[in-house]
Amino acid sequence: MSVHTDVKRISVPQLMACKGQRKIASLTAYNAPIARLLDDYLDMILVGDSTAMVGYALPNTLTITARQMAFHAAAVVRATQHACVIVDMPFGSYQESPEQAFRNCSMAMSSSGADGIKMEGGAALAPTVRFLVDRGIPVLAHVGLMPQYVNTMGGFKAQGTTSEAAERILKDAVAHEQAGAFGVVVEGVVEDLAREITARLSIPTIGIGASPDCDGQVLVTEDILGLTGTRIPKFARQFADVGAVIRGAVEEYARGVREGSFPTMDNCFGVKKK
Ligand code: KIV
Repeated sequence: MSVHTDVKRISVPQLMACKGQRKIASLTAYNAPIARLLDDYLDMILVGDSTAMVGYALPNTLTITARQMAFHAAAVVRATQHACVIVDMPFGSYQESPEQAFRNCSMAMSSSGADGIKMEGGAALAPTVRFLVDRGIPVLAHVGLMPQYVNTMGGFKAQGTTSEAAERILKDAVAHEQAGAFGVVVEGVVEDLAREITARLSIPTIGIGASPDCDGQVLVTEDILGLTGTRIPKFARQFADVGAVIRGAVEEYARGVREGSFPTMDNCFGVKKK
């Protein structure tokens, strides 16, 4: 059953109002068929730059461009009516200056119709967040494990494992709240840090590999559907084996084609029904 009671899309202020009231449910989508299936059940759909790895089989997220992200976001917006759609800004599209960030974020939003953007970064990015918010761009910040920093972090590993690191990540999150971010994705940090960030902020935290106490949760859809073809990460859960369903259907189709049971005359044009 759909969780939405009206046809209007959930707005960023409505997401913010969820803090302390109810959890925010979110997943990624990169294309129309998946977005259409998710829309009835989620508050927020993230057009994540994880599409670089999940959709394009690249080793990390670093090579996808803002134009590609805008294309994916446009497909997701066209296929949905309810969920708030947030587009992830990719590596190199916002770090240079607030002006560069505004150019790329406004392009991504205006060419796709997305409701806001997400960007990875610590407190050093806060002035850019402020610049964007002041110019009408809702920003979802992203702290902790930031995949765009894979080369400086030396891999995808849990963050905040020392008290100094935890203190820094907490400061990053607070800086983004003060700069006007509407929420913060907290990824891959030790659980008590995610809990502390959630308690300290008045804006929602969206956890992934964080804590059940976060104000919401986001996962990569393909991970929960068994579509990634790799080991499920510790922080995710496979809720269905859609991969097995697809393999079964394709096997049956291929057998039908080879044996001659598909197509039949019913699938042909210009054949009179008896
Ligand atoms: O790119 C992405 O999909 C993300 C989420 C998993 C948080 O950043």
